Amino acid sequence: MVRSVEQLDLPGKRVFVRVDFNVPIDKKTGAVKDDSRIRAALPTIRHAIGKKAKVILASHLGRPDGKVVPELSLENVGARLSQLLGQDVIFADDCVGDGVRKLVSDLREGQVLLLENLRFHPEEERNDEDFARQLASLAEVYVNDAFGTAHRAHASTVGMVKHVPQRGAGFLMLSELKHLQPLLKGAQRPYLAILGGAKVSDKIKVIENLMARVDALLIGGAMAYTFMSARGIGVGASRVEKDKLDLARRVLDKAKQSRVELVLPVDHVVAREPKGGIETRNVDDPIPDGWVGLDIGPKTVAQYEQRIAGAATVFWNGPMGMFEAPEYAAGTRAVAQALAKATARGATTVVGGGDSAAAIVEMGLADKVTHVSTGGGASLEFLEGRELPGVKVLDE
Ligand code: 3PG
Repeated sequence: MVRSVEQLDLPGKRVFVRVDFNVPIDKKTGAVKDDSRIRAALPTIRHAIGKKAKVILASHLGRPDGKVVPELSLENVGARLSQLLGQDVIFADDCVGDGVRKLVSDLREGQVLLLENLRFHPEEERNDEDFARQLASLAEVYVNDAFGTAHRAHASTVGMVKHVPQRGAGFLMLSELKHLQPLLKGAQRPYLAILGGAKVSDKIKVIENLMARVDALLIGGAMAYTFMSARGIGVGASRVEKDKLDLARRVLDKAKQSRVELVLPVDHVVAREPKGGIETRNVDDPIPDGWVGLDIGPKTVAQYEQRIAGAATVFWNGPMGMFEAPEYAAGTRAVAQALAKATARGATTVVGGGDSAAAIVEMGLADKVTHVSTGGGASLEFLEGRELPGVKVLDE
């Protein structure tokens, strides 16, 4: 059993909380562009402060490849956290070493210390034993609230855990598991999965694993063109993963055998090139030569809306088109709005992390669905049916 942070003995203790503050940063100003992940960790941090713990927060930011990359410092993240918490956040310019040890030993009850980007050290991603022990030596209690990083077996998510006397999961981690677990077992029917995004290869394992569980799979995004191609439907100049056509065919066959509806778009918003600000058209299948499919068309939107309206459970991951350009955002927006409506009438709606989470936040609909996962890769791996190493280790 994974213990909740509420079951741990926190008062007066040095509590190491692994958070996922891997947030988008504005390249020019260095400011945090979307603070959803910071906000999502607040309940655990506030709980630890309220229990008079000495709170040590650690995270990665980006992929600095084991080197110090100043643009990937967590300092600005600390400033944003401090605003959200309404109290000072002490910032350490490293995550291990004498300076950090001193800051930790000076910490008073209820104070918060944020360590510098863990991935400035190559040992973090290598799950190096010595580095893991150094991190562990800072703490008496370990709490993992970094669901978004739970699919990585790194020093801060796995290696250090066994060296800390008490361990458990934070509120965000528990909430993610609570909302994602039913998607694999016991979801209310009709159960619909809507999968979009660019590549079949990114989603194939999720599609295969969900196929045995859902009533229908609705496909959108560039991935749809690979499936259409595999079915022999003309896709014009749309993006197709040619080396995945056999795989797509196998998935289509499997869906047929399992009597799961795998629904492909029937019409498309197309342009001559994959960019905004140029002439677009709405076309039915097949897509004419020289035209690129960039969003699902209005007939498909209407079909998908209708299906969402009739579902008891909906999981959505991946945009329906190139939604960064307003010309191709209608499909993604319609799905987000249909999910919000479905939630209002009592359906359970879960949005996987990554682009679809960013889209729903941008549309101001994040609090209108049951759950928006903070994990992109982590939620996908979870739905592939894989055990997440960062969760498993809390149970050992
Ligand atoms: C994420 O944003 O998916 C997590 O923070 C993990 O980041 P990573 O893919 O660089 O390990």
